[in-house]
This record gives sequence, structure tokens and C-alpha cells, in this order.
Amino acid sequence: MNNRIKVEKLLINYKTLEKFKRFKAYGNQELSMLEDLQSNIIENNSISPFYGIYVGNNLIARMSLYQVTAKYDQYFKPPQDYLELWKLEVLPDYRGQEYGKALVDFAKSFNLPIKTNPRINSHGFWEKMGFQKAKYEMERDLGENPLIWMPEGVQEKEV
Ligand SMILES: CC(C)(COP(=O)(O)OP(=O)(O)OC[C@H]1O[C@@H](n2cnc3c(N)ncnc32)[C@H](O)[C@@H]1OP(=O)(O)O)[C@@H](O)C(=O)NCCC(=O)NCCS
Repeated sequence: MNNRIKVEKLLINYKTLEKFKRFKAYGNQELSMLEDLQSNIIENNSISPFYGIYVGNNLIARMSLYQVTAKYDQYFKPPQDYLELWKLEVLPDYRGQEYGKALVDFAKSFNLPIKTNPRINSHGFWEKMGFQKAKYEMERDLGENPLIWMPEGVQEKEV
């Protein structure tokens, strides 16, 4: 991993949520975190599922990581805990400087399989990161185009 880049776990507070507004994929997840904060359902500085990279005071890249338990695994053999990665985004001015790669490498460092549902146009990036298309399974993948990455020794579930 690139040493100059530090990936941090992000806390939920008004400051972080304000910084999130600069990302295109700002949506329901962020709005509901804001509501939970406002109505004291969650505490200020609660741990969030987000990891990010700061340059100075600027949050310039982020991703969300969620650990799915083996019970719900429909991708790997044998069924096991895996990470769902989403909302990976690097702000436009900072793209092409390995920040995206640093976040993906960080996700890989947990040594669990990873699943993501990529946005159109980002396939080249995911291919470089060693992700492959999951075999399409209609009932499971309806409306999704899942890509998966597996640590050594893990296999894809047979369809
Ligand atoms: C996709 C995204 C997360 C990549 O992050 P990034 O920090 O710009 O990418 P990196 O600098 O870490 O790139 C790592 C490698 O992937 C390659 N790569 C990055 N984006 C790519 C793309 N869209 N297509 C093909 N290859 C790509 C880089 O050239 C680099 O390869 P190299 O190691 O051989 O030089 C970022 O561009 C982004 O947030 N884009 C907006 C959201 C999106 O998905 N857009 C579609 C892609 S434009």
C-alpha cells in the first residue's frame, strides 16, 4: 500500500456529514444518519460504516464497508463472512493518484472476500483491482452487476 496515503475510519458527526455532501453518491444513507444524529438516536461521533482519506482538512475519498455474515452469504464457497463495499468515490480533482486503489487495498487487508456493485464506467478500475464478475444468478442479482474479489483459498459459489 502507498505509505503517503492514510485510510481512516470516519465518525458520524455534523462535520463529517457536511463533508459527505461533496460526493455524488450522497443519498438516503447519509440523510438517515443525519436524522438519527438530530433526533439523538445515535450519538455524536458514533462509528460509521465509512472509511475515508483526508488531504489536509479535506475529505477527498471515501467508501462504505459493511460486513455481511456467513448466514446471508450467497456468493462464496463455503458460505462465509464477506465485505460489501459501496460508495467508493474519489473527488474529481484527486482522481488518478491512487486514492481509489488505497481504499480498495485497505478493504482487502481484512482478508475477507469482497463484493461490490460497480457503477457504469468503472469496470476498468475494478479489473485493475483484481475483481471479477460474479456468475450471473437472476434471482440474486436482479438489477445488479456484482463484482467479487476473493483472498487466496476462497472460491466462488457454484451457480
Ligand atoms: C473509479 C475511482 C474510484 C478510481 O479512483 P482513482 O483514485 O481515480 O483511481 P486510482 O488512481 O487508484 O487508479 C488505480 C488504477 O486504476 C486505473 N483506473 C482508474 N480509473 C479507471 C477507469 N475508469 N478505467 C480504467 N482504469 C482506471 C488507474 O489508471 C490505475 O492504474 P495504474 O495503477 O496502472 O496506473 C474514481 O475515479 C471515482 O471516484 N470515479 C467516480 C465514480 C465512478 O465510478 N466513476 C466512473 C469511473 S470514471
